[in-house]
Amino acid sequence: MKLLSVFGALVTGYLAAEASAASASCSFSTTINASTALSQLNSCPTLDGHIQISGDKIGAVDLNNVEEIKGDLKLFNSSSATALNMNKLKTISGSLTVDAFTQLHNIDFSSLTKVEKLALISLPSFAQINLNKGISEAGSITLSDTALSSLEGLIDYDHVGALDINNNKNISKIDLRNLESVSDRLSLSFNSDDCEVNLDNLEWASNLTIQDVSDLSIGNLTSVNSTFLIAYNKFDKIEFKKLKKIGGALQFFANDEVTEVSFDSLEEVGGEVDIYNNTDLQDMGDAFKKLKTIDGAVNIKGEIANFSLPSLSKIDGTFNLKSTSDKLDCSDINKQVKKKVKGHNASCSAPKKSSSSKKSSKSTKGSDSDSKSSSKSSSDSSSSSSSKKSDANTLMVASALFTTVITSVFAVFI
Ligand SMILES: *[C@@H]1O[C@H](CO)[C@@H](O)[C@H](O)[C@H]1NC(C)=O
Ligand SMILES: *[C@@H]1O[C@H](CO)[C@@H](O)[C@H](O)[C@H]1NC(C)=O
Ligand SMILES: *[C@@H]1O[C@H](CO)[C@@H](O)[C@H](O)[C@H]1NC(C)=O
Ligand SMILES: *[C@@H]1O[C@H](CO)[C@@H](O)[C@H](O)[C@H]1NC(C)=O
Ligand SMILES: *[C@@H]1O[C@H](CO)[C@@H](O)[C@H](O)[C@H]1NC(C)=O
Ligand SMILES: *[C@@H]1O[C@H](CO)[C@@H](O)[C@H](O)[C@H]1NC(C)=O
Ligand SMILES: *[C@@H]1O[C@H](CO)[C@@H](O)[C@H](O)[C@H]1NC(C)=O
Ligand SMILES: *[C@@H]1O[C@H](CO)[C@@H](O)[C@H](O)[C@H]1NC(C)=O
Ligand SMILES: *[C@@H]1O[C@H](CO)[C@@H](O)[C@H](O)[C@H]1NC(C)=O
Repeated sequence: MKLLSVFGALVTGYLAAEASAASASCSFSTTINASTALSQLNSCPTLDGHIQISGDKIGAVDLNNVEEIKGDLKLFNSSSATALNMNKLKTISGSLTVDAFTQLHNIDFSSLTKVEKLALISLPSFAQINLNKGISEAGSITLSDTALSSLEGLIDYDHVGALDINNNKNISKIDLRNLESVSDRLSLSFNSDDCEVNLDNLEWASNLTIQDVSDLSIGNLTSVNSTFLIAYNKFDKIEFKKLKKIGGALQFFANDEVTEVSFDSLEEVGGEVDIYNNTDLQDMGDAFKKLKTIDGAVNIKGEIANFSLPSLSKIDGTFNLKSTSDKLDCSDINKQVKKKVKGHNASCSAPKKSSSSKKSSKSTKGSDSDSKSSSKSSSDSSSSSSSKKSDANTLMVASALFTTVITSVFAVFI
């Protein structure tokens, strides 16, 4: 597929009605692969339509007259472009994506304050960003696989739609202490292995994903409205003091160093509870003191020495606890759980105590759902790494669309 060979512009028919005398709005769809076309683009204070900049003939991308991006601007696939200058850009009311610009090391956003959608993806040389005032309003921001080491200026808001910071190996500190709510999703995954995260004022997030974090401070969280995923972290202790409700599933796995976990105030889980592969986690006796209702199934595996659901009133799915520790007393758990399990199958199993007389009883034997829960986990864990792939696919499709555009009209509405 020949993607980048066309510099064609299509008049989109967009009505540049709101274009005032002060700001010329240029609306068109085009793919640009050369510097001359870039400088034409730079005569537009407001960019609209679908514009793609791509290819290895581009050096520095100088768009220092552009003040607003209303449409979709995509910079995609270049191993020659070294810098992006958009120092007058104030507002991205549409979307800006920079993806697979492998030599890009610097972006100048020194006037940028409002962003509807910004994605900076697969930029392995990108280590420097200029943000004078900083972004104070953001719909969705994705920062993936860059060489940035600081997020200063990028994340100074108290509310965000979606924030995804993943695979930035030089980021060892994510300070989101001003953030109070996240209406779609917050995902902090696989940055530096020593990444410290501060979410001290976060009260609720729709979906929350915390992966490969060494220290997490999140004491004011009261609600995760949808899925809460906590995996591959390096902390040894985690406590959610105020978290009352998880609207979707709770997934807690592969936190290899965790020895203590507690959800002190948690009363409701709207989906499944999956807890497994936390190799050092044994004592879960006080983990869920107030948990009353679970709308999905419960699957727990590990060297669990004690576990208790003292406040339980119902579990809608099945209950399956499989321990490799002979310290676990299943009879107590069965007493708590058996009559509350609407899915009828409740199963607790643990090896027989070698020396003690205490009976380790098995109750209603359910089918062993090991395979089910582990296949689920592998699809969960691959979701973050495969997201990049699907982004690329989307872009391929988008670029294919652009190549079909051959009308060579460069329209400027004033
Ligand atoms: C850039 O686009 C022009 C047409 O506008 C085309 O002739 C040329 O081959 C393209 N160059 C590359 C490297 O894709
Ligand atoms: C990226 O650009 C290179 C060289 O310009 C080209 O060979 C390659 O096919 C492009 N990749 C995509 C995914 O467009
Ligand atoms: C990013 O980290 C690598 C080592 O992991 C280091 O070599 C490189 O200099 C760092 N880059 C920046 C910009 O700090
Ligand atoms: C999430 O839950 C919180 C607390 O219950 C609530 O204030 C907020 O409106 C909810 N957000 C969404 C998007 O439903
Ligand atoms: C986040 O949660 C909402 C419900 O609160 C859901 O509709 C949405 O699909 C979720 N988004 C992602 C990316 O998981
Ligand atoms: C919760 O938020 C309050 C008010 O902003 C703050 O003073 C306090 O330190 C936070 N608590 C925790 C445990 O982070
Ligand atoms: C859990 O079991 C261990 C060892 O059997 C014990 O030391 C610990 O006190 C128990 N914890 C709770 C909360 O019951
Ligand atoms: C309960 O377990 C039995 C036997 O293992 C199985 O046939 C049945 O489908 C299970 N019921 C539910 C509701 O999962
Ligand atoms: C859980 O542990 C098993 C056995 O070590 C491993 O095969 C599996 O990939 C792990 N799953 C996750 C999600 O880490």
